[in-house]
Amino acid sequence: HTIDWNPAMAEKSGYTHFMLKEIFEQPQAILNTFRSRIDPEHGQLCLPELGLSDRDIKGIGRIVLLACGSSWHAALVAKYWLEQWVGIPVEVDIASEFRYRRLLLDKNVLVIPITQSGETADTLAGTRLALKSGAKVVAICNVLGSTITREVHGTLYTHAGPEIGVASTKAFTCQLVALFLLTLYLAQVRGTMASRERLTMIESLVELPVVLERELPGWQEEMERLAEEFVKSRDFLFLARGENFPIALEGALKLKEISYIHAEGYAAGEMKHGPIALIDRDMPVLALVPQNGVYDKVVANVEEVKARHGRLILLGSRGDANIGRIADHVVYLPVILPDLNPILYTVPLQLLAYQVARLRGCDVDQPRNLAKSVTVE
Ligand code: G6P
Repeated sequence: HTIDWNPAMAEKSGYTHFMLKEIFEQPQAILNTFRSRIDPEHGQLCLPELGLSDRDIKGIGRIVLLACGSSWHAALVAKYWLEQWVGIPVEVDIASEFRYRRLLLDKNVLVIPITQSGETADTLAGTRLALKSGAKVVAICNVLGSTITREVHGTLYTHAGPEIGVASTKAFTCQLVALFLLTLYLAQVRGTMASRERLTMIESLVELPVVLERELPGWQEEMERLAEEFVKSRDFLFLARGENFPIALEGALKLKEISYIHAEGYAAGEMKHGPIALIDRDMPVLALVPQNGVYDKVVANVEEVKARHGRLILLGSRGDANIGRIADHVVYLPVILPDLNPILYTVPLQLLAYQVARLRGCDVDQPRNLAKSVTVE
């Protein structure tokens, strides 16, 4: 009998891949990202690193978020949060598009580039254009002292720690945490959210690492079983609405980049405008259906999938008796503050992608043709 261990596993703390290690590091990484910045007793936030005075914050007329890859998905989630709680119009742009458009920026625009590495060429180029226009620029970044952090007015660091796997996991969820903190802080300074409500949100954020820590082992097993069932699939559709829609995009991105299964994320309401044509008995469709304001709408969308005999996988709220009747496979997630669902629902999707890729014998940590940071255009 041989022991299933090699020296390379030591630096992965016993995990088979960096990606899996980094998925399991998320409770700690998330805690590290929020803990020094909140006062859970009084529900106050403190973010001096933004380099923005209260006056600056009160003068913001528009926010522009700028990023690539998974970081762009984090930006898409933040649009829902910021518009809902701060009431400032938010634009989200892919950095490689932003940099070749006419930019209508001025000093009342807050530009927020989001980048794990701080070195992505398109994001840097977009940031430099924003700086030239006179806009305020605050980066969200994971790497201390990286190029972007030396050029912008302020940096809100994610404290995810080094991320080795090419596919972003803990850096992504920590970006969401940073953006959630930013939302609460802007709402605090501008007085757009009752302090009671802010306190509730902070309490829910503080709970999140505990919830993730508790759920992770179960999800890993469930996703392994699901992966066995779908390992031979050629395509995959991910559906969601609202603030979870970008998580459908992220789930699809994780799966395609590491398992090479063609996957698409779609806003559930857009299905009737195209992807529904693809649905047959071989098509796996995974939908996020937490019990929130758009629950009925997503359920109606997945009923359409069922009517066309798609293979339905639902991720929804524990205690929801309805979804088990609709789907072939249901994964139940704990009920938390709906605003934080994008973070919660990301994690099982990471594990699904991981398990499928592993079963297919793919190089999980270094997928073909991809780089951890893309420093050329
Ligand atoms: C590459 C990585 C992705 C990452 C993207 C943006 O494509 O593989 O994981 O999301 O770059 O990188 P950044 O460092 O700017 O967040």
